[in-house]
Formats: sequence, structure tokens, C-alpha cells
Amino acid sequence: MTAQRAVKRIAVLGCSGSIGRSTLAVVAAYPQRFRAVALAAAHYSERLLAQVRQFQPEVVALQDMAAATRLAADLMDTPIQVLSGEAGVATVAAWPTADLVVSAVTGFAGLAPTLQAIRAGKDVALANKECLVAAGQLFMDEVRRHGVALIPIDSEHNAVFQVLNPQHELRQIILTASGGPFLGWDRDRLARISVEQALHHPTWTMGAKITIDSATLMNKGLEVIEAHWLFGVAAEKIAVIVHPESVIHSIVEYQDGSMLAQMGVPDMRTPIVVALAWPERVTQPMCRLDLTQLSQLTFRAPDRAAFACLDLAYQALRTGGLATTILNAANEVAVAAFLAGRIGFTVIADVIRATLEAVPNQEAGSFSVVFEADRLARATAQRFVDHWDDRGIG
Ligand SMILES: NC(=O)c1ccc[n+]([C@@H]2O[C@H](COP(=O)([O-])OP(=O)(O)OC[C@H]3O[C@@H](n4cnc5c(N)ncnc54)[C@H](OP(=O)(O)O)[C@@H]3O)[C@@H](O)[C@H]2O)c1
Repeated sequence: MTAQRAVKRIAVLGCSGSIGRSTLAVVAAYPQRFRAVALAAAHYSERLLAQVRQFQPEVVALQDMAAATRLAADLMDTPIQVLSGEAGVATVAAWPTADLVVSAVTGFAGLAPTLQAIRAGKDVALANKECLVAAGQLFMDEVRRHGVALIPIDSEHNAVFQVLNPQHELRQIILTASGGPFLGWDRDRLARISVEQALHHPTWTMGAKITIDSATLMNKGLEVIEAHWLFGVAAEKIAVIVHPESVIHSIVEYQDGSMLAQMGVPDMRTPIVVALAWPERVTQPMCRLDLTQLSQLTFRAPDRAAFACLDLAYQALRTGGLATTILNAANEVAVAAFLAGRIGFTVIADVIRATLEAVPNQEAGSFSVVFEADRLARATAQRFVDHWDDRGIG
């Protein structure tokens, strides 16, 4: 007789976004395994209201106060608690009945609630890579101090997590990159890209910020930093290879030359279901790869000259201290400016480089130092954006 498995209770930070929606799709597909007990997002939307009505969580928080008031009015006929503001999102992150918190807020804004979850002793399924980019050492110290599990959702890191054997010394981790929509384009062509073109990713459907990060290859740079902190591997041992089919999600090469890879369709529900069920596995896959339908798997080196963001991320990781905090903040500002039509695609890397040069680096000694560096880097990057003209930074 097999023992009845307890239902795992899940809190989802960023429930209305791309990862949040995929997470709730996984929860809906395995009602005997998972239940969504707490949800958080930033704004009110019909989609969010539909999610709340479908999943009937114990609590939902919206960062936007007015949005939370509107949601509370809509949910008057239910026992669901509605909370508001950053404090409300933090309460959801530490929700007492949740066993696992999915961290899927986008950007640096995800750091504070994810820390709340860790400090409340919750296991975390981490999609938000900016937490580790901005505050890697401090964040991992907090994970160790509270003895919680940190399971990566990012498909590359989820792949490494599945094939990494800590007893065997590795030669390198090879992160695969789709190459984005502009694979093979030179810098002149890249300079004329429109927002619509950049938002059209060839293999993955994702939120706007990460879609632009994928197009600039900054996403891969952020993932190199994420892998460094998650797996304790030096920058020199983390390589990036372009693999446009996005079927091999990453590779671990051991000292004897053996390479272990994880494969699957490019659909985030696979790494999400792995993270939610870990250390167990579900028995019915949500998506399956049909190997007979694969005609070829191709690989090539990234074009580091045309896609300058990748090396900016490597440099920041090697520099250490607050460099990756500054890199992350400048990237968020530059991507937002590109999405608003204020700067060109190749200017994103220029703004980040200029911000890294302008903001003083120091040891990332505490979270308050990190938050202050993030604030200063944002203000500096914003000034570069505001004074940008065709000749360079004003
Ligand atoms: N999408 C992917 O396939 C993918 C893959 C790997 C890793 N990731 C990482 O996962 C994270 C989320 O990406 P995404 O593509 O899902 O982003 P997204 O579609 O833009 O969704 C972001 C979510 O965060 C919420 N949010 C934003 N600011 C918030 C705040 N201050 N408090 C509470 N909620 C807030 C948004 O709420 P509203 O909708 O109300 O604004 C939304 O639910 C990113 O760090 C990304 O790098 C994503």
C-alpha cells in the first residue's frame, strides 16, 4: 500500500506574470499534489481576479494600495483576506500555512519578499534571478542561516540542479542560450531594432523585461551570476553556448570529459513542476519531448562583440563587491527606457557600462548597503538615459 502524500501548499509571489501563470497551471494540473494558499502581485487585473476566484487562496496581496482596495470590494462575498502594499506582499511571502514559496516577482523588487520567505523558514522555488545578481553572497548566507531549500526554476539552473553531482569535481557548467531573436545580427542592425521586434522571442514566451534581457544576452549574463551563487562555481568555470532550439537546457561537464545534460521542450511548466514536487517527481508529465521530431540540435559561440551585455555581466561578477548590484539596477533602468521608446537597443549596454564606471564600488557588507547601491545606481542610470543623445552620454 502506498502512503497518502500530503498536499504541498504553495505561495506564489508574482502570480499574474508569466511564471506565476505557469505555476498556477501546474497547481491546477495536480490538485492532489499542490494547492495555492497565498498569492501576490502588484496591480489589479481581470486575470488576477479570475485566478483568485479559481484557486480560492487564503490570502492575496497587491502591492498597489488602490488596487488592493478594489480587489477587496470584488471579493466581499468570499472569506479570502486581501492585503496591500509591500507589507501585504511580505505577509504573503511568510504565510504560515505555506510550505513552499514561488519567487516570481520580476526584478530587484523580488528581493525583499523573497528574503521574508527565507526568514520565515520557507523553502523557496526561485524564478527571480535578480535576487542573486543584486545580493548573491548575503542572499545565500540567509538561505544557509535559515536552513531552507532553494530550488531554481530558471530552466538552465533547474537543469544543472538536476544533473549536478556534488561528489564529482566538475570541469565547467555550460549554460545554453537561445540566442534571442537577433542571432547573427551585427551591431549596426541591432542599433535600429524596434521594441516590437525585441519583444518577439523565437522559442520562449515570457514577461517583457526578461524578453528584452534575452534579446540583449543580458539574461545569460544574469544567469552566469545566478549559477555562480547557486552552485558555488567560479566565473571561469561557467560557459555560455548558443543553442537556438532550446531543447538542451544546460550541461555539466565533469573532469573526465563526461557531459550530463537535461533536455525538454522549451516550456517553463517542466522546471516549475520539478521545483514544486522536489525532492519527489510527479508521475504524469505536463509536456513531453518527442525525440523523433527533432531534426537537429545546433550550437555556436555567442557573438560577444555585438551583444556586449554578456561580457559586462562577466566583468561585474569578476569585479565583485557591489558591481553586480549596480549592473542589475542599471539594466532594469535601461530596459525600461528601451521599452518606453526612450533609448535604442544597443544603448542599453552603453548605459550599463557608464553606470558601472560612475557608481563607486565597495564591499556588499549588508542588505542596507545593497539597497542603497541599487538606489544610487538607478538614479545614475536614469540620468544617463535622460541626457542620452545620438552622440553618446551627455
Ligand atoms: N518568464 C519566464 O519564462 C522566466 C524564466 C526564467 C526566469 N524568469 C524570472 O522570473 C521572474 C518573473 O518573470 P516573468 O517573466 O514571470 O515576469 P512578468 O510576466 O513581468 O511578471 C511579474 C510578476 O511580478 C509581479 N510584481 C511586479 N512587481 C511587484 C511587486 N513590487 N510586488 C508584488 N508583485 C510584483 C507582477 O504583478 P502585476 O502583473 O500585477 O504587475 C507579475 O505578477 C523574473 O525575475 C525573470 O527573470 C522568468
